[in-house]
This record gives sequence, structure tokens and C-alpha cells, in this order.
Amino acid sequence: MCGITAYIGDRDAYPIVVNGLKRLEYRGYDSSGIMMYDGETIHLSKTKGKVSDLEEITENDPKRKVGNIGIGHTRWATHGVPNDVNSHPHFSESENLVIVHNGIIENYDTIKKELISRGYSFRSDTDTEVLINLIEEIKKNEGCKLGKAVQLALTNVIGAYAIAVFDKTKPNELIVARLGSPIAIGVGKDNEEFFVASDASPFIEYTKEAIYLEDGELAIIKKGRKIKVRKIEDDKLIDANIQELQMSLDQIEKGGYDHFMLKEIHEQPKAITDTYRGRMLADQGVIRMSGIDDNLSKFLNANRIIIIACGTSWHAGLVGEYLFEDLARIPVEVEYASEFRYRNPIITPNDVVIAISQSGETADTLAAIKLAKSKGAFVFGICNVVGSSIARETHAGAYTHAGPEIGVASTKAFTTQITLLSLIALKLAKEKGSLSKSAVNTYLQTLQQIPSQVESMLSIDDKVKEIASVYKDAKNCLYLGRGFNFPVALEGALKLKEISYIHAEGYPAAEMKHGPIALIDENMPVFVIATKTGHYEKVVSNIQEIKSRSGKIIAVVTEGDVTVKEIADHVIEIPETEEPFTPLLTTIPFQLLSYHIAVMLDKNVDQPRNLAKSVTVE
Ligand code: AGP
Repeated sequence: MCGITAYIGDRDAYPIVVNGLKRLEYRGYDSSGIMMYDGETIHLSKTKGKVSDLEEITENDPKRKVGNIGIGHTRWATHGVPNDVNSHPHFSESENLVIVHNGIIENYDTIKKELISRGYSFRSDTDTEVLINLIEEIKKNEGCKLGKAVQLALTNVIGAYAIAVFDKTKPNELIVARLGSPIAIGVGKDNEEFFVASDASPFIEYTKEAIYLEDGELAIIKKGRKIKVRKIEDDKLIDANIQELQMSLDQIEKGGYDHFMLKEIHEQPKAITDTYRGRMLADQGVIRMSGIDDNLSKFLNANRIIIIACGTSWHAGLVGEYLFEDLARIPVEVEYASEFRYRNPIITPNDVVIAISQSGETADTLAAIKLAKSKGAFVFGICNVVGSSIARETHAGAYTHAGPEIGVASTKAFTTQITLLSLIALKLAKEKGSLSKSAVNTYLQTLQQIPSQVESMLSIDDKVKEIASVYKDAKNCLYLGRGFNFPVALEGALKLKEISYIHAEGYPAAEMKHGPIALIDENMPVFVIATKTGHYEKVVSNIQEIKSRSGKIIAVVTEGDVTVKEIADHVIEIPETEEPFTPLLTTIPFQLLSYHIAVMLDKNVDQPRNLAKSVTVE
């Protein structure tokens, strides 16, 4: 998720664009850049690092700040590591066209090869530079205006995008377009100036009038003219819907949500989709990840897979153990990185290590990776931050495309990590033959339903809020789950602990009789995952044991459940899915529950006490 901002009008564009980038840094901040056009020359300034690093460049060279039209970008890398050359904006080969892009062009490799065959060369590794040269090639061949060239180019593109494009030969206009990534256009008085941004935060103090492009729409912005909005698919002109902005700046940065955590919970359908996008063709049973494909024999011949991680990522790794052993029949061990690195573990060159980390900077995980590498193991990384230390330290890897996770409590990172682990397990199961092709196809088609099922589940928010109000003053809570959902019980307990400061423990449901049941009384809320698949009858008897000791039961069940409904004090229903994917759904109620309890207790949800988003110290 990157941040785009642009200005065209009579004011100095530089301060508007740079301050806009600072407002958008929450969307991605591994590199940034700005294009300024002074009436004769395009000045492109860009650098790895924060917007403040970009300002150092322009402060030392004031001509880079001159002009009434500017485009800016803060990057959250998905293709090409964060460095100066991969930062946006990008020139076309002629250096007449400039683009900034938020999103992923899935078929960029095919387009790039065709452009290279036509004599194009590329400065960067990005999919974005491919797009701007495709636009240039079409503009040249068709002899058309920029708006038409962009429209034609986008009909050849597969993926998600929000773009702003500038043409030096037509300096009084900007072309913007969107599919899957947001674009807002601030409309100045009498159309004399326009503001473009990923959300309204960069321009809300200049104008309250905004057009939010819909997916598949392109806008031609010309100073002094009414905006023209067209459909990308057929170039048809449509009415531009100008809205009156009501939100505050703070609300806009959070997408209208009260906290980043809630925004990120709601981003999960898109984050899960973006994570499997381009990596699976469900109907054909195709799974492709270069990090796996290029190292397949290591995985297939491994004695075992060792998963190392911390916190929520460790919980995702535990789900990974169930996935790999159940589907691919590969032995797995899951280790806390902080323990693994110090316990003199037995590691051999026949081991494959999978390191999971949202930030890619967790010190214990990084140290455990180095230990594993020193003993000859092949190490594969699953990170959410492109170019992070762990991503660079591992032999190979795959990125979750969750976008920046700002809330300290990890939510969309967890579900996208499980999504990636599911794809890897299914890939290995197919290659090993431990699952039939048709079984793999069925799983992939089921996985493809998860984002819409998560979306439908987000409507349980009111019910979860009601339950939160009943148990917000509890001093201790228990979370129980079995099989694939035992890790979800641990994760649910961690969520509650870390943002509401209520003590909570997660247990395998059957473990109750080995001690914890002594804790049960009317003051102990017990959150139990009792989905239809996964030893349902056993969990029902666990629930009855608790009920007979006056414990309060809040159960997460499969839609249509009747048995548990008769016993539990509260029931939250989830849609039916294959057992291996139930964690992607059962975790949602626990994320929302911990969020609402923390809000009711007036805690700092996004920055809980004593915690950091990335634990880069031991
Ligand atoms: C989870 O909500 C916490 N923020 C924490 O446990 C986190 O998962 C852990 O520190 C690991 O972080 P990483 O995924 O960035 O390595």
C-alpha cells in the first residue's frame, strides 16, 4: 500500500506535495520521491527512506522545488527492494512521461519482455516502470493523447493500481486511474486547481470538495477545466460525483476508522486476496511462488521443516505445522526464535527452516536465522516488509502483501501469513502427491472464498461488541481450541492481553482436565472454538465440563450449529469452510473482541503500553 499525492494549479506545488507525503507515510514508508515541473524541466528527486530524507535532497538543490505541478509518492515495496532507483516517480524511456503507482501489476513480466523486444530498456526492477513504458509505446504507436494511451494500456494490465501520470508535452494536465487501490481528487475553486491523493488527508485543508474514483475509472484533470471521468474498459464518459468531505484529518488517515487496528481488521479481505493474487489459479490447481519453485527439491527432500518466529507470527507458524503435516505429510517443529537460538538445537543441512516475521526486523528471529544458516540449513522467509533485514538474510522467501500494519497488535499479518503457509503446504502436497490434483483444486477454490467470508463476518461486529460489554471487566479469561484452532486460541489470548491488559491464556481444549479446569467458576469467561470440523463432539464435552462448573461459555461455532447454542452463554457463528482454513475465520471474532474490550476500557489500542511494533532488541 503506497501513498500518492499530486497538485496542479497556481500555487507552489512543492510544499503541498511534500506535506501530503508526510500525511500518507502511514501507508508505506520504505522510500519516497517527488516530480516537479518548472515549466521547462522535469526534476525527479527520490530516495530510499522517509520523506524527511527526500527533503534533504531538495533542500540542498532548490531548483528541485520549483513549479506549479508536482507528483509525489511514498512506497511500500511489493516488487523490487527499497532503494533509490526503485523509488517512485518513474520516467518513461523518453523521459517525457512520469508515473507514480500504488498496487501490483501481475502481468508486468510478460509486458516487460514484449517492450524489451521492441527496444525498451529499464532502470528499475519495478512493475511500475513497465506500465509507464507501455503507455509511452501505445501513445507513440497510436499517436493518441495521454488520456487515451493510459486507458488503452490499462485494458492490457492485470492487477491492482492507482496511478497518476504526467506528460511533459502537455504540462497542464494529469491523468489518474484506479482499480483496487484508492484515488481521491480534491477540486479547487472554479476548477483552477486540483489535488490528487490516495486519501483526502493531503488536501483537506485546501478543499472539502472531492471526487473518489471508483474501480475501473480514469480521470483527465486539466487546470481551469471541469474534470472528465471515463470508464477504462470502454472509454465512455461518466458523471463526476463531487462529494463534500466531512471527515477530520485523523479520521482520514485511519480510513474513517477510529483506530488503525480496526482498519487493519477490516482490510483483511483485501490483504488475503492480495497475498494469493498472482500465486494461484484455483480452477487449474496452479500454485506458483518463485521462492518455492526455485527450491522445491529442498522442501521435498527435507527431513523436517522447522518454523521459527515470535508472538503472533509464532501462532501463524503453529497453524503452519498443522497445514504441512496434515496436507503435505512433512514433519514440522515450531520454535520460539528466542528459545531456538540459545538452546543449542540440532540443525542439519537436510532441514528447511521457515522464518515468519511481519516486520522482518525481530532480533530473536534474525538471530535464529543466522544460527540455522551457520549449520547449513536452507532458510525461507515469510515477511510483510519488502527488503527488511530478515527478507535479505534468508536464502529465499515470499512476501505477504498485507500492506503496512500500523497497529501494534498484529491482525492482517496473521491471516496473510496463514494464507501464504496454506499455499506452500498445498504446493508441496501436490508435488509430493500426498493430495490428489482434485483435492488441491478444491482447497484452492475454497481458499478463494475466504476473503468474501471474512467480509461477511465483519458484520458480526455489533454482536461481538455486546459480548465485549459483558466481559470487559473480567480479570482472567481462558481461550480453548483444538487442532488447527488451538493456535487461534493462543492468538486470541495474546490479542486480549496485549491491548486490554486482561490476563488471558490459550489452551488445547482437552488440556482443561489436566489442571486449568480448577480455575473455572462464574467469574471465568471461557472463549471456545467449536467449529463443525475438528473434533466437534470432543469440544462439546469440554464445554459441558466447564458449564457444569458455572464457567461462562462464549463459543465460536459453524453457521447453523444447534448443539452448542443450547449450552453456551453466547455464540458467534462463522461460515463453513475446509478445516485447514478455519483459523482464517475463527480469529476474526477474537480480533474484534479484544479491540472492543480495549476501547471500552479506554486503552491505547494502536500503541499499547510497554509494547513496540517491531521488537528489534533482545
Ligand atoms: C502481536 O500482536 C505482537 N505485536 C507481537 O507478538 C508480534 O507478533 C511479534 O513481536 C513478532 O513480530 P514480527 O512478526 O514482526 O516478527
